[in-house]
Amino acid sequence: MRLLSVRLIISLIFGITLVSLSFSYYQVIGEKRGLRSDLQRRAEVLGESLAGNVEKSWEAGSDRGLQRLVQRFGNREHLLGVAIYDRQNNLVAITPELEKKLVAPPREITQTIEQGQEAYAFARLGRDSVHILALPLHRQDQIVGGLAVVHDANYIRAQSLRVWRELFVRVLVQVFFIALITLLIVRWSITGPIARAAQWMQALRTGRISFHQMPDLDMFRPLAREVATLAERLNQARSAAENEARLREAGESMWTSDRLAVQIRTRLGGSRLFVVSNREPYVHRRNGKSLDLVVPPSGLVTALAPVLNACDGTWIAHGSGDADAEVVDAHDRLRVPPDDPRYTLRRVWLSKEEEEGYYYGFANEGLWPLCHIAHTRPLFRAADWQHYQEVNRKFMLALLDEIAAIPKPVVLVQDYHFALLPRLIKEKRPDARVAIFWHIPWPNPEAFGICPWQRQLVDGLLGADLIGFHIQSHCNNFLQTVDRVVESRVDWEHFSVLRQDHRTIVRPFPISVDFTGDDTAENHNHGFSYIERSALLRGLGIEATFIGIGVDRVDYAEGILERFLAIERFLEKYPAYQGQFTFVQIGAPSRTHIKRYHDLLAEVEAQAERINWRFQTGKWKPIVFLKRHHSHTEIAPYYRAADLCLVTSLHDGMNLVAKEFLAARSDERGVLILSQFTGAARELRDALLVNPYDIDQTAEAIRVALEMEPEEKQSRMQRMRKLIREHNVYRWAGMLVSELCEVRLDTTEPETEKVRASTSAA
Ligand code: F6P
Repeated sequence: MRLLSVRLIISLIFGITLVSLSFSYYQVIGEKRGLRSDLQRRAEVLGESLAGNVEKSWEAGSDRGLQRLVQRFGNREHLLGVAIYDRQNNLVAITPELEKKLVAPPREITQTIEQGQEAYAFARLGRDSVHILALPLHRQDQIVGGLAVVHDANYIRAQSLRVWRELFVRVLVQVFFIALITLLIVRWSITGPIARAAQWMQALRTGRISFHQMPDLDMFRPLAREVATLAERLNQARSAAENEARLREAGESMWTSDRLAVQIRTRLGGSRLFVVSNREPYVHRRNGKSLDLVVPPSGLVTALAPVLNACDGTWIAHGSGDADAEVVDAHDRLRVPPDDPRYTLRRVWLSKEEEEGYYYGFANEGLWPLCHIAHTRPLFRAADWQHYQEVNRKFMLALLDEIAAIPKPVVLVQDYHFALLPRLIKEKRPDARVAIFWHIPWPNPEAFGICPWQRQLVDGLLGADLIGFHIQSHCNNFLQTVDRVVESRVDWEHFSVLRQDHRTIVRPFPISVDFTGDDTAENHNHGFSYIERSALLRGLGIEATFIGIGVDRVDYAEGILERFLAIERFLEKYPAYQGQFTFVQIGAPSRTHIKRYHDLLAEVEAQAERINWRFQTGKWKPIVFLKRHHSHTEIAPYYRAADLCLVTSLHDGMNLVAKEFLAARSDERGVLILSQFTGAARELRDALLVNPYDIDQTAEAIRVALEMEPEEKQSRMQRMRKLIREHNVYRWAGMLVSELCEVRLDTTEPETEKVRASTSAA
């Protein structure tokens, strides 16, 4: 750095001096030229008036008169003297000062007398610099001699030297100040930030701070962002390596993003992974002149994003943001995540009518309530069904376009929006391996039977090679539905269906979160501190001793109203907790275009207000309802500060909030209260399981959670965290893709298989 400064200063001094001197040179030359022409003018004026007078005296023939005349002019400014010569260059009269210096007639006099014209020159006279003007003298039009007017020109040189001296001092001062200012700028804007950046990088490298805590690095900010990403990757790689080592030591085999990436690459051979879902992982929204990037509140996105991040591939989804079209290329593609691109997002555009009929209508007013059985009547409109079929075909075309050049592509279709897609794809690309994962429950055949298009839906799904549900009972319900609805052979022994010579395997794959565990002794101490918790409460404008947390899309299937009733009952039953326990409900408005959802949002708000009005005192209130979408980073502090997390879904395929809460609790504190009607309840037996319709039971669970011994909390939390660490989302994806890649693609079933299937069906 010092060397850089020295080089910089030397270059600056050299550069500034060179530029200043060039300017000075031209200035001095100009000045000199001005002084010279000024002197010339002055000599001419004097010479002409003197010549007239000399000619008159010459006429009179008086040498003494001439001598007197020249002496009168002897004391003019800068005038060295005048001399008069006759036609033979003999001196006639001269001023005394000039006489001492002029030993011979100047060349200009000779020239003037010969040519009869004025002559002048700057010349040297001994050590002096002089200006000589020679004029011819006439008598009756005859040249009789010459007049020399000699000026001292030394002052011109002196003047130039003075200008040079002043300029030199000015250049020196300039160089000094410019160098000083440059040094200060270098120190403030370069050396300072570089030193801070170095300290920050060192702290990052040694893991003392998080890469989010970036100091003010001025113009190095873009560079710092890149370094932060690099450091993040490095940290991830380091903790993955530590994990691997720990697991090898413990003889465990855990799923990590790296392991999934390797496994999927091996399984795919030269092929690629394609995911199709309605919801996209990133939504671009216009916000005035800038673009907002939003990760939508979706369990599906939470689960699949880390998988695609690990394995690359293409994710095809509905482009739902109002600025989505502004950021895609000519093929409607973009690489994401935007700050660290790892896979391709292909956006599919839907018209308002298509979105209305397919998404809001058939998928969310028909299939969603049909599968959730949460006492909201499903609505089946023929026009919605029409749109649902068209949109499934539209996604098929987009997918076919993406896989056109890919042999044996592996396609993972997601959710109830695309029941028809598996068959549509297989008809066009029998070499594709197609799985569909159904993220919501599958009800019993009687319940499903009210759907007028149940046969088409089941037939569409059976086009897949593999159908995944979260839990076994959803698989069973599906197979029972198949048995009743379409002509096929259900193999209950192997959980598969044979229809029109195509076999579909049906399996449970409990989805999970991106949790590879950080259960080192060091991390156990990273619980939420009292100070952080107080700051969180202060931010909410309340005071409380205990905190509960709920995080949901505002959906009737989540049981938010039932949850609030249970909180009210708890405070009623255990008044000692009034003024002590506050429940924070983070509620992301969802599908509000549908009246049922729109009304529910208002109901949830009104319910919270009613309960608050009933119990609220001073700075305490029982429910804080935060009605907006929160990012994962915003939610994390609430998870970590909470004494309990309430998940009271009336029916749920899995519920990832329960697992996210556990993943966030590296301090091994906090209690999970979980609805028995979630898929997660099958795995998380150490949660306090409740029937959300039973208000008293949930109220009691809140008390039990708050009064549970710390040791018990810890051992429950340890067991559940171990489970989600071992059954994380990488394992989910790994299992799903492995199973799919093992599927035999021959369309003709071997005879033995057929016999086995028919025997077991009988
Ligand atoms: O599986 C249900 C699901 O797709 C979840 O991923 C998510 O919680 C929810 O529905 C999202 O709904 P939407 O995409 O309609 O906002």
